Amino acid sequence: MTLKELNEKISQCQKCELCKTRTNVVCGSGNNQAEIMFVGEAPGKKEDEAGLPFIGSAGKILDEMLESIKLKREDVYIANIVKCRPPENRDPKPEEVIMCRDWLNRQIEIIKPKLIVLLGRHSMDRFLPGQKISIDHGKPKRYNGKIYYPVYHPAATLYRRSLLKDLQNDFQRIPTIIEEIKKAGKDEITEG
Ligand code: URA
Repeated sequence: MTLKELNEKISQCQKCELCKTRTNVVCGSGNNQAEIMFVGEAPGKKEDEAGLPFIGSAGKILDEMLESIKLKREDVYIANIVKCRPPENRDPKPEEVIMCRDWLNRQIEIIKPKLIVLLGRHSMDRFLPGQKISIDHGKPKRYNGKIYYPVYHPAATLYRRSLLKDLQNDFQRIPTIIEEIKKAGKDEITEG
């Protein structure tokens, strides 16, 4: 199945309550052969209206971060752990994350990114349970054959300005991490 075909299926999803309140399903956007995939939490109001991920204020920060390492949105793939907007931007419920799990897993299987950047603690929890974002951000982790890289959520830097420097520093390491992965083969990276 192609990513386009999968995303068409995701767009029809009615597995959880969020299908009743959404305007659009936000499957994801970008390069379907991206080396780097970014995974956020869930769409907000703007994303729900447009059907595209990270186009609001958090998206502006994400764009700046990408630009700082000379990447464009078209170079990477951007998705969320939950594809439909939770009403009033509440946190996704555990059952909503579970219902959406398989969709994101299948997107990852098709794209086969070398690195999965986890934006914020909800995304980190989904892939690396038991870690703490304040301690584990900026540390690549190998888990079940994939390499994850947790960083602060761009939106978190809007209400805690002190986190911006951490996010900038963690992004600056991404090109080196990718180089290391390519050099060493997918099972060998320096963790931590
Ligand atoms: N925050 C997210 O986690 N995802 C989006 O798509 C937008 C804001």
